[in-house]
Amino acid sequence: MADLRDPLPFPDAAFDDVVASLVLHYLEDWGPTLAELRRVLKPGGRLIASLDHPFVAYTISDPRPDYFATTDYTIDWGVGGRSTPMRFWRRPLHAMVDAFTTAGFRLTGVHEPQPVPAARELFPEEFDDLATRTCFIFFVVEVPRAAIGPGGCSENDPGRAG
Ligand SMILES: C[S@@+](CC[C@H](N)C(=O)[O-])C[C@H]1O[C@@H](n2cnc3c(N)ncnc32)[C@H](O)[C@@H]1O
Repeated sequence: MADLRDPLPFPDAAFDDVVASLVLHYLEDWGPTLAELRRVLKPGGRLIASLDHPFVAYTISDPRPDYFATTDYTIDWGVGGRSTPMRFWRRPLHAMVDAFTTAGFRLTGVHEPQPVPAARELFPEEFDDLATRTCFIFFVVEVPRAAIGPGGCSENDPGRAG
């Protein structure tokens, strides 16, 4: 298993897509991780990331934290009869978007998923509640085909410095 805070053991432009499912919110600093994910994606490749929706992360804590700050919080997670403290990092929506674009990605989709209609039959008690409040947020971001480096230079530009 790789630690996403470290360099990834893959060559440049190795993958068409990367899926980061419910993992980025465990990381304080997205910069090095997003730079690595961008490096291993081909031009036109997509990073598809699901996260705790920031509205949830900022409303479950009492006292309510500063929405505009990036701060950590800990939840005791019950697994196999044991409780384990899980440390999360919450950040405002603009900080998420800024992190993707600063890493050289282009934002192509933001989704706030709701339960599929068929879930009403399986979960009649919970459905209306789940269908009317935020839970997760999905981002689809893409490496531009004429890739723009994190410094803003086109990697296809023969006159590029460096
Ligand atoms: C909520 S689970 C999500 C698991 C799975 N991706 C899914 O969607 O069902 C969070 C996962 O993030 C992983 N994780 C947390 N911090 C990590 C890190 N620094 N590097 C790699 N994985 C990490 C944990 O090991 C765990 O598997």
